[in-house]
Amino acid sequence: MVGLGVMGRNIVLNLADHGHSVAGYDRDSAQVAALRKEAGDRTVQGAEKMPEFAGLLRRPRAVMMLVPAGAPVDAVIRDLLPLLDRGDLIIDGGNSHFKDTDLRSTTLAERGIDFIGVGVSGGEYGARHGPSIMPGGPREAYARVQPLFEAIAAKADDSPCVAWLGPRSSGHYVKMVHNGIEYALMQLIAETYDLMKRGLGMTDDEMGDVYDGWNRGELNSYLVEITARIFRQKDEKTGKRLVDVILDESRQNGTGMWTSQDAMDLQVPLPTIDVSLSTRNLSALKSEREAAAPLFARPIPKFSGDRGAFQAQLRDALYAGTIATFAQGMALLSKASEHYKYDLDLETIARIWRGGCIIRAQLLEPIRAAYRAKPDQPNLLLDPGLGKAVMARQESLRTVVGAAAAWGIAAPALMTTLGYLDGYRSAWMPANLVQAQRDNFGSHTYERIDAKGVFHTQWGPE
Ligand code: 6PG
Repeated sequence: MVGLGVMGRNIVLNLADHGHSVAGYDRDSAQVAALRKEAGDRTVQGAEKMPEFAGLLRRPRAVMMLVPAGAPVDAVIRDLLPLLDRGDLIIDGGNSHFKDTDLRSTTLAERGIDFIGVGVSGGEYGARHGPSIMPGGPREAYARVQPLFEAIAAKADDSPCVAWLGPRSSGHYVKMVHNGIEYALMQLIAETYDLMKRGLGMTDDEMGDVYDGWNRGELNSYLVEITARIFRQKDEKTGKRLVDVILDESRQNGTGMWTSQDAMDLQVPLPTIDVSLSTRNLSALKSEREAAAPLFARPIPKFSGDRGAFQAQLRDALYAGTIATFAQGMALLSKASEHYKYDLDLETIARIWRGGCIIRAQLLEPIRAAYRAKPDQPNLLLDPGLGKAVMARQESLRTVVGAAAAWGIAAPALMTTLGYLDGYRSAWMPANLVQAQRDNFGSHTYERIDAKGVFHTQWGPE
């Protein structure tokens, strides 16, 4: 393992717990010392120099790295290459951009080195006790490390949450979309929080209880579970709830943004994910928001309805939003599979996301079943069961979105989800007018509903 930050170190310890002997290297000797200390009497060796590290490895060598995406990955490859032989294997377990992974695969293949891009999800705890692992690359190269990954991966129904997903950058692509879905689910949950906090005037304790209750039902998922726990956490400094002293500006490392960027390139609509990213960016404009607040001040009316009923509608709206988010992410995977020739198996992806990863959710069971029934389902909303589940909750979503609009509380992910659903179920959309406008001002042509071919009209005078 190259890179002994908390993720790398935890994967090393996880491997060692499963009986594998592991060598670790980090250019920061303090990290090597930390590994040695934590490893105790496990079969783990630390190395302070790259050549010493390479010398510890059995041939053909398998080197996994967990370093920040971008230049650090290239730097590690550059330092490793003179120490490796043909037939050795490099595994990049970080959140690398899939296009970088493709480039690195090609360059390394020319040197006779196999390269696997692996998405690892589950944060620090997952790395230590069982992450979801998304590998892509040469299948034979993966076969060499398959038993190791299967040993350390999370288990769902006794099956390891790892599978070879496809060639080249497919693993990193799937992890990227996982993170896009992650962004949207987090934003949807945050909006339900805002509507309960400022709309219903609920306390942290009350909201913690609501999320806890939701986590016991159909919304059962890691993100809802940690949300419930977050509301109970006290701040040591002030004694307040920690969530209330955290600055309301969200940051990002880029993977969610890459999902939206590539979806734009492939022309796949995933508006709930896009708007979640934009809303993170809006949150980061704190000083502008503070300047605008007094200019656009508008009081939030006092809620006088049935609180329990509204909370149930919020729960349903979140469930509909969650299904729509997975539908959008999976639709991108389906298109990317064709475009990049990954030949992805969407059922397998749903299967390995059931445990270990940040977006793990009970809902992945019916999603998996949907792809088992119809592997080439273009959109999960067309699955009879999931489609019905969304439509049964659409009135709740409408009520929640209507309330957010009336109260003046921003709920962009919920609102956009409703727009997406209403657009998706519309056999007719006003795109004919857009086509007419394009042809009118730019002779871009249009197609007709009553004849095949491409048409252009000399539109009337202004
Ligand atoms: C995971 C996460 C992880 C990601 C963080 C932060 O699956 O374990 O997706 O890989 O780095 O969630 O992402 P942002 O900093 O972009 O929010």
